[in-house]
Amino acid sequence: TGADIGVYGLGTMGSALALNLADSGFTVAVSNREAEWIAPFLDEAGPLSERLIGAEQLEEFVAAIARPRSILFMIPSGAPVDAMIEAIKPLLDKGDTLIDGGNADFHDTRRRSAALEGTGLHFVGMGVSGGEAGARNGPSMMVGGSDHSWEQFKPMAEAIAAQFDGSPCVAHLGPDGAGHFVKTVHNGIEYADMQMIAEVYGLLRDAGGQGAVEIGNLFAEWQKGPLSSYLIEVSAAALLSVDTQTDTPMVDVIRDQAGQKGTGRWTLIEALKMGQSANTIEAAVGARGWSSEKAVREMAEPLLPEGVQDAPLPEAEDLEMALLAGRIIGHAQGFRILSAASEEFEWSLDMARISEIWRAGCIIRSALLDEFADAFRGELPGGHLILAPAMRKRLEDSIPALRRVVAAGALLGVALPALSAALAWYDSMRRARGTANMIQAQRDFFGAHGFERTEGEGKFHGTWNPLP
Ligand code: 6PG
Repeated sequence: TGADIGVYGLGTMGSALALNLADSGFTVAVSNREAEWIAPFLDEAGPLSERLIGAEQLEEFVAAIARPRSILFMIPSGAPVDAMIEAIKPLLDKGDTLIDGGNADFHDTRRRSAALEGTGLHFVGMGVSGGEAGARNGPSMMVGGSDHSWEQFKPMAEAIAAQFDGSPCVAHLGPDGAGHFVKTVHNGIEYADMQMIAEVYGLLRDAGGQGAVEIGNLFAEWQKGPLSSYLIEVSAAALLSVDTQTDTPMVDVIRDQAGQKGTGRWTLIEALKMGQSANTIEAAVGARGWSSEKAVREMAEPLLPEGVQDAPLPEAEDLEMALLAGRIIGHAQGFRILSAASEEFEWSLDMARISEIWRAGCIIRSALLDEFADAFRGELPGGHLILAPAMRKRLEDSIPALRRVVAAGALLGVALPALSAALAWYDSMRRARGTANMIQAQRDFFGAHGFERTEGEGKFHGTWNPLP
């Protein structure tokens, strides 16, 4: 006998997952690098502490877990994970599985899986989404690893996961880094969605002169329609929250400088490496970057000419529809990156399944994800989400609004980087004949780089004449 699982790392996410596991009836050994965190954690667990075994020493922690062991690390990603693996390895037995539940770079996960191959130990890279509340009550989990390790962990994962219509929001998506990669792209989509929401807020605040409460009430209305989602819900609730110190809206006392831990940027870097476009995510990562240049922006505001023009503020319904179009396009780009990576790393990712496990528990959960799941299960030309019949209908209803909103932002001088990126991508993708012939002409003119002719294969050079 012994604990069903060990959880190492009692930070916000680790504590919440350990309690969730105990709540689901599993016995959980827990430990933490700072041993003094363990006793207070057990104290606060109340009656659940009956199923929690605290262990201060690593040896004691490992010994408390039933074999073959499942050990979940909830520690900062990067070097701490490598150090932890090295420290625990000598204490383990063949068949044991290490699960990294942090926001790891999937390249690290691939490296760690490869390093453990042939040792009899197994490695799982698992993306966990949903923040603290999700981890405690039901997160969405994206699992990468061997079949063996999944079989062992599956009953526990399914018991603690969020449920959507009785189906658990966890799946074994592929080997090694597949789970962490899917989580990374989840976060990229999250960045784009958050940015687009912030852009609509900006338009209403800066061009519409609206206050936080007014905008919050509008967003709360949108929760009842097709935009219904966790991110709209928290945005509405955040706008309606009041700072107790100043009795003003919380958002008005927060400095306009965004943090980021790297997953959005990783999504972009990987997309670019695979020759993919993810311009909504790029816009979102870029906007967080510019936001931190507060001093420059303060200097620039009185110096740079506005050049704005009068234009009506878009109707609320247009803003809602523009966000819907932007959300579809942001996801379409995310799924495109997933397909490219699936091919490159031979993961056979199942896009319908991924949509399904994102329907509840995770940060990007939304009414649309159920529609995406249906779209991926149905007729889908070329595997492209935006070409699914139901999505084409959604876009038909929302693209005109996206055009009006982007145009208004441009005239009124309010930056809408992610929404305009979404529109630019959409207009690029719906044209069979693009403008890259002009790029090729320039490349061949100045660098003899060659081009293909419209009628077929082969490389050609033009006869270029300088201007007279
Ligand atoms: C989730 C979130 C979670 C977290 C990220 C945000 O799915 O639960 O994405 O992973 O909020 O750390 O990342 P940034 O700090 O980069 O915004």
